[in-house]
Amino acid sequence: MNLLIVGGAGYIGSHAVRLLLDAGHTVTVYDNLSRGHRQAVPDGMLVEGELSDRNTLVGVLKEKNIDAVMHFAAFALVNESVNDPALYYRNNVIAAVDLLDAMREANVKKIVFSSTTATYGEPEVIPIAETTLQQPINPYGFTKLVFEQALADYAAAYGFGYAALRYFNAAGARPDGTIGEDHDPETHLIPIVLQVALGQRKHITVFGDDYATPDGTCIRDYIHVDDLGAAHLAALERLESGKGICVNLGTGRGTSVREIIDACRDVTGHAIPEVMGERRAGDPPELVADASLAKQWLDWTPKYTDVRQIVETAWRWHQNHPNGYASN
Ligand code: UFG
Repeated sequence: MNLLIVGGAGYIGSHAVRLLLDAGHTVTVYDNLSRGHRQAVPDGMLVEGELSDRNTLVGVLKEKNIDAVMHFAAFALVNESVNDPALYYRNNVIAAVDLLDAMREANVKKIVFSSTTATYGEPEVIPIAETTLQQPINPYGFTKLVFEQALADYAAAYGFGYAALRYFNAAGARPDGTIGEDHDPETHLIPIVLQVALGQRKHITVFGDDYATPDGTCIRDYIHVDDLGAAHLAALERLESGKGICVNLGTGRGTSVREIIDACRDVTGHAIPEVMGERRAGDPPELVADASLAKQWLDWTPKYTDVRQIVETAWRWHQNHPNGYASN
């Protein structure tokens, strides 16, 4: 297929691009590089542009004869969304709907969207199934939920075919070490812990150990970024006009903050000093996927089932690129 990968210069999008190319698809990346990295995109594939630039987008969709779009271009920091919701509603809702309208104009109606477990808020029942009531607790989660609804409405009214893939905690890097996670500022647990191992930070601050979990630290479902990419490939083949599906992408296994730090100690051989800190606002104690729908609908199961394997791939990237893409 001819694919437009919106946000393909970002962390998850750039990994998906490599897997789509490996599978024989033709890829064009559309990205404004506000958060992505030019170096993450293979030569000659990047078109720089804004989601709201309808003329450019329609031109690219037509000129490249695009069959389907993958949308990875949302902002994804909870704290930032609380402090600056306008940024999130503008990019994750308004600009994303501009993308859908450019697609309508170019008669491209297949889309795979990166949604999130943040649309569930703080569910009481773990593991989390797709039928769980979606009650986001921050603007980030709300903007993703609004766009899921837009997709449902565009499917019913205009014949869009979509998959909204609700990621749990994306982690790891392409195993060959060529691309990986490079956020500024970095807020995610695994890269921060590995920065301690690299000597770039003195310690990791654990955000609370008084949660109602076995070791008191928060539990998350860490999923390798290439497993996410593989699920996108599978979803692409199943898109049907006028229909949509929302699917969790997780492993179904929870790992605590403490277990992640221990896995990083094992993998890096570094002591990784830790300091106990306050709880971070808005952190639910436990988020673990019920991943059965993905298995059933996508015929997909994650390859990386041990967080050590995930950390190993991340560590390879961080060792080769201690300053991210700026190391190149
Ligand atoms: N944590 C620490 N210390 C740190 C950083 C993180 O203890 O320095 C803890 C957090 O409190 C949390 C866990 O590590 O318990 C994971 O935190 P991340 O920031 O790596 O990931 P989140 O679970 O907060 O966020 C992820 C995505 C978001 C998404 C959210 C819920 O990054 O985009 O899952 O879906 F909104």
